[in-house]
Amino acid sequence: MSLIENLNWRHAVKAFNPNKKVSEENIEKIIEAARLAPTSSGLQQFRIISISNQEVKEKLVQGALNPDSMKDCSHVLVFAAWDNYTAERIDKVYDFTTEERGLPQGRFSSYTDMLKKVYLDLPDEVNFAHTSRQTYIALGLALAQAAELKVDTCPAEGFDNKIVDEVLELDKMGLKSVSLMYIGYADDEKDWIKPMKKVRIPRNEFVIDVK
Ligand SMILES: Cc1cc2nc3c(=O)[nH]c(=O)nc-3n(C[C@H](O)[C@H](O)[C@H](O)COP(=O)(O)O)c2cc1C
Repeated sequence: MSLIENLNWRHAVKAFNPNKKVSEENIEKIIEAARLAPTSSGLQQFRIISISNQEVKEKLVQGALNPDSMKDCSHVLVFAAWDNYTAERIDKVYDFTTEERGLPQGRFSSYTDMLKKVYLDLPDEVNFAHTSRQTYIALGLALAQAAELKVDTCPAEGFDNKIVDEVLELDKMGLKSVSLMYIGYADDEKDWIKPMKKVRIPRNEFVIDVK
């Protein structure tokens, strides 16, 4: 199936079958699609917490807009972004990149100096808004990869960030939750939205052609 066919196939699932688990092989492919996402300055300013532990999922049910999905899905991916930019975080990424590419250390120092000048004096919340935005391309690619594997998903911002951050102790990693992705196989009887038509505004309204 083509990418477009897969994107037409997928939908934001409202109910998952608790007895059907997604294979670790497929979960790894979905995560890999997210890992390969482009990010601003290549900083990969976020991490993914992959949760299959039922007890942990139960702790996150409270505050979830889709509590049954949290409980019944096979895996939940939490997209969590850096809570701020720091010189150490920027340097760590670029030291690693330089090493991986076999380049002399400091090869990108004028660029990282520029990044530090741009970010380090900005308020934490402005920087977090920027790091958070970086997660969404990864979320999109992960959704598309899951669709290719015929694995059901639902992206979600409807949850209590405070609870998720606390349960996963994200502050210890300098992270804050941004979005979730429920992964599993739909419960065809309870997933009330499945029979409904996928609706998108028509192409001509969606695109402003400048020719
Ligand atoms: C960033 C983001 C956050 C979303 N949050 C939720 C959510 O909390 N709960 C939910 O049921 N659906 C959520 N959705 C799903 C959307 O409602 C859904 O993608 C949209 O209605 C289009 O339907 P489709 O994905 O089935 O084509 C979210 C989607 C995105 C992209």
